[in-house]
Amino acid sequence: MHKIAVLPGDGTGPEMVREGLKVLEAVSELKHFDYQTKTYDFGGTRYLRTGAVLSDAELQELGKADAIYLGAVGHPDVKPGILEQGLLLKLRFGLDQYINLRPVKLYPGVECPLKGKGPEEIDFVVVRENTEGLYLGLGGNARKGTPDEVATQIMLNTRRGVERCIRFAFEYTRKRDKKKKLTLVAKTNVLTFAHDLWQRAFDEVATEYPDIQTDYCHVDACCMWMVKNPEYFDVIVTCNMFGDIITDLGAMIQGGMGIAAGANLNPEGTSMFEPICGSAPKYTGKNIINPLAAICALGMMLEFLGESAPARSVEQAVMAVTATKLKSLGAGKMGYTTQEVGDLVVSALS
Ligand code: IPM
Ligand code: MN
Repeated sequence: MHKIAVLPGDGTGPEMVREGLKVLEAVSELKHFDYQTKTYDFGGTRYLRTGAVLSDAELQELGKADAIYLGAVGHPDVKPGILEQGLLLKLRFGLDQYINLRPVKLYPGVECPLKGKGPEEIDFVVVRENTEGLYLGLGGNARKGTPDEVATQIMLNTRRGVERCIRFAFEYTRKRDKKKKLTLVAKTNVLTFAHDLWQRAFDEVATEYPDIQTDYCHVDACCMWMVKNPEYFDVIVTCNMFGDIITDLGAMIQGGMGIAAGANLNPEGTSMFEPICGSAPKYTGKNIINPLAAICALGMMLEFLGESAPARSVEQAVMAVTATKLKSLGAGKMGYTTQEVGDLVVSALS
C-alpha cells in the first residue's frame, strides 16, 4: 500500500492534481495496486488565513509518506520568497530530496518550436542538484537602502552533496540505457572554485562507470545546444541554479509548461513529484489549464514507487492524447477543458 501525501497548493495546482488523481484511480484499478491518499491544504491560501506556512511537525508528518504529490506553490497576494522558502525549499531541504529530476521529451503530435526536431531528437533528462548551491539562503547585506549597500549570496557546494548527485546521475544514465552519455553542465571557466569541485568529483566518479561516455558543456553553450542540437544530450547533471534555468528552457523545447514534470528525489527517503510550472494565477479556476504536466508527474511518482507497468501505461496514455487529440498544449488552446483532458488520458490507459 503506497501512502501518498497530496499537496494541491495554490492557483491551478488543485485543478491539475485533481486530474492526476483521477488517472491514479483508473490506473490502480487497471493494474491492481493499492494506495491511499491524504490531502493537505498547505500553500498561500492557508498562509493568508492563518499565517502558517509549514511547521516542523507537518514536515515530519510528510516525511512519513511514501511519496508527495504536489500541485503548485505561489500566490499573488503573498510576498515572493515566503512560500518558496518556507514551503517548497523547506520540503526539498528538510526531506533531503537532493536530486531534482526533469525529463525533456517531445511527445508525438506536439508542435515543437524547433522546426524539424521530433520525438527522436528531443529526449533527455536533467539531473539537478536540489539542496545546495545558491539556494541555501547564505549571505547577507549591509547598508541596505543606501548608495553604499552591499549584498552577497553564497554558492555553497559540499564534496558530499556534489558527489551524491553526480553518482545518482551516472547510475541513472546507466539505467536509462539510451545513449549512455552524461554531460556535466557548469561554468568552470568562471566559477573556478565551486565548479572545479564539480569537475573533479565528476572525473573521479566517472572512473567507476567505464560504460558511460562523459562530456562537459559550459552552461551558456548548453543553452545554445539545447535549441540547436537537442539530440546531442542524453543525461545532463548540473548545479541547483543552472538546473533551474536550463529546465525552463527544456520545458519550452518539449512543448511548454503544459507538459513538463519533475521529481524531487531522496532515493533513501520521501520524494516529491510536481509539474514544474508555477501556480498560474491568471488561469486559476477556469478549467483551461493543461493537466498533462501533473499527470506526467504522477507517472514519475509511480515509477519511483516501483510501479513500472502503471507508470509506462500513464506515459503511453499521455502520448496517445498528445498524438491524436490535443490541438495545442497551451492553457485554453487544447480544444478540451482541463477535466476533459484528464478523461482522455483515463480512456487511453491500457
Ligand atoms: C522550480 C521553481 C522553484 C526553484 C522556485 C519556485 C523556488 O522555479 O521548481 O524550478 O527555483 O527551484
Ligand atoms: Mn524553476
